[in-house]
Amino acid sequence: MKLNTLINSNKIQFNYFYNKLLNKHLSSSILGKAMKYGSMNGGKRIRPYLVKEASKIVKLNKNNMMILASCIESIHSYSLIHDDLPSMDNDDYRRGKLSTHKKFNEATAILAGDALHDFAFELISGHLKNIDEKTNLKIINFLSKSTGHIGLAGGQSLDLIYERKNVNINNILEMYKKKTGKLFEFSFSSPFILANETKQRINFSKEYGLLFGQIFQIIDDVLDQINSFERIGKTPGKDKKQGKSTLLKIIGKEKIIDFCNNKINKFINKNKKEFSENKFLEDLLKFNLTRFN
Ligand code: IPE
Ligand code: IPE
Ligand code: MG
Ligand code: MG
Ligand code: MG
Repeated sequence: MKLNTLINSNKIQFNYFYNKLLNKHLSSSILGKAMKYGSMNGGKRIRPYLVKEASKIVKLNKNNMMILASCIESIHSYSLIHDDLPSMDNDDYRRGKLSTHKKFNEATAILAGDALHDFAFELISGHLKNIDEKTNLKIINFLSKSTGHIGLAGGQSLDLIYERKNVNINNILEMYKKKTGKLFEFSFSSPFILANETKQRINFSKEYGLLFGQIFQIIDDVLDQINSFERIGKTPGKDKKQGKSTLLKIIGKEKIIDFCNNKINKFINKNKKEFSENKFLEDLLKFNLTRFN
């Protein structure tokens, strides 16, 4: 089956579970409504797909797989609600609809983001089953680091600092690693950690997720420049207007695919064993480069 079809069918299953979970836990207050608006409004659910593929490799039980995925999408949705705020990227649209601060108001959007972030920690600290407390603490600690100052939030800060600045490729890749890579790293490696896999396999899964995330962001920047509102569901051409520092800006569109392919092939060559044991891992990594189609 085509990867797009698999991702879509996983999205339907995930949305069904996540919608039920949110309905069970969120109240009908304005804040609850804003949280739901910002998290149940048509995302691609790529991260839950990575959780699913990793869970398949390590045979993680379905409950824990779904809780990890819900936790990650809650963090991701919080990051998008805040990313769109006037003081950050100032985007009125997200996933083809008004962004949360436009639909509600700015204060509600800030709080909805905060509360989704906290909801993720509520899930990961209280809803995983059949794991010992030590492993549970380990995964909570890892999520904290993936989202905090050395992870997503740290990367978002660099993204803003680098606006209209002259920065080099390494600065940009470091920013991508933090703002986007770290949550992808968590998405792909958390099932390996819960399944108590070997250190070596966990390290591989972390590197895989990190690389996936960096390339995902490189391509997101290209899509921002070349696509329509209908295709991306957010205001196109914003990165350029806001003077964002992107790899695209430094090396140009023509060299982007080669740059990504180079990185992917180097990683595959370094990890031949894992890629030959799980053939789909290569297609999944290269899926990023088909996002233009
Ligand atoms: C957008 O992420 C933000 C980036 C990290 C590039 P997605 O492209 O996964 O957003 P949704 O969830 O599908 O809307
Ligand atoms: C956002 O990157 C990454 C996050 C961690 C939220 P972008 O600012 O490029 O994401 P979009 O294009 O608004 O979705
Ligand atoms: Mg941004
Ligand atoms: Mg943005
Ligand atoms: Mg973008």
